[in-house]
Amino acid sequence: METIIAQITENEEQNQKIYEQASDILKRGGLVAFPTETVYGLGADALDEEASAKIYAAKGRPSDNPLIVHIADTKALEELSCDVTAQAKLLAEKFWPGPLTMILKKSDCVPKSSTGGLGTVAIRMPSHPVAAQLIRTSGVYIAAPSANISGKPSPTRGEHVIHDMKGRIDMIIVDDTVDIGVESTIVDLSEDVPTILRPGYITKEMLSEVLGEVRIDPAIMGSVKPGVVPKAPGMKYKHYAPKAHVVILRGPFQRYAQYVNNHAGAGVAALCYEGEEAALHVRALPCGREGDPSSQAQRLFDALRSLDAMGIHTAYARCPEKQGVGLAVYNRLLRAAAFEMIDV
Ligand code: TXA
Ligand code: MG
Repeated sequence: METIIAQITENEEQNQKIYEQASDILKRGGLVAFPTETVYGLGADALDEEASAKIYAAKGRPSDNPLIVHIADTKALEELSCDVTAQAKLLAEKFWPGPLTMILKKSDCVPKSSTGGLGTVAIRMPSHPVAAQLIRTSGVYIAAPSANISGKPSPTRGEHVIHDMKGRIDMIIVDDTVDIGVESTIVDLSEDVPTILRPGYITKEMLSEVLGEVRIDPAIMGSVKPGVVPKAPGMKYKHYAPKAHVVILRGPFQRYAQYVNNHAGAGVAALCYEGEEAALHVRALPCGREGDPSSQAQRLFDALRSLDAMGIHTAYARCPEKQGVGLAVYNRLLRAAAFEMIDV
């Protein structure tokens, strides 16, 4: 398949043509990748059963893993969900548009192919201007998972999307202003106590300020035990994984550096923090600043992808803090490392 690659520029007239071309593709049941403030998404018309089914084929995604429906107006909530709770309205007012996905009971118009057969639907209103403009111009609700091959790190740059999706989808819209770098926070509002199913830029503390009690799903911190069905089906899969073997080293920098230097060799790399490179005797990839989890989130997926481009076989990563946005970084890195962590 020929993939159209279109770059957003300062030229508004030209940009409008891109939105119109992408809208035509979406309305005809095709696939368009586009930037959001978190990561790039791979979009299809969420209410078109066949179109959203194509997403699974393009990504190689298991069909029981549901998609997030992207909207541009809160009015869409009432159409997509049969039970828009008071809590959902409060969160929408406070955090939308932005990096928060809510799980609500679905209405009949949402096809099974978008929800993996579940009775609930995941809804998000992105703040990225390109995403918002695409939803508005097309007039469709856009089902969009991250625009990577299933299991690979999510794309935070146009080149990542082109690498994974060129030849598999109709169009890629490139605009490298994806600035959060990890996917949206997912909060399940379909049960009694709001529960975070995936941590992101909107933290537990921020949600609690609006809602009171908020739980964190235990699957976030560890792997899902055999026989236990995770609430977000995506959490049971190996995820975000480069070809390289990633190991998290938990402990202070001095002991981290000692361990890495004792295991130095060709094909070994360090996923460290900025300013630590000089003390390490291996290829060092700085991944944000220590104590600044937002900067780590921005760099993580790009750093994981670079490991493969550099032919690295083993990468030793610093262990992120679990507070605030750090929990999102920790959660993604833990999966990239297939839960392998060593205390140093
Ligand atoms: O930031 C984001 O959320 C990005 C951008 C493109 O918006 N999208 C994204 O989609 O990360 P995806 O498909 O990679 O992740 C969606 C996650 C999966 O783990 C899936 O299992 C979960 O959301 N999910 C979707 N619908 C659900 C539902 N009804 N109940 C529970 N989990 C759900
Ligand atoms: Mg994903």
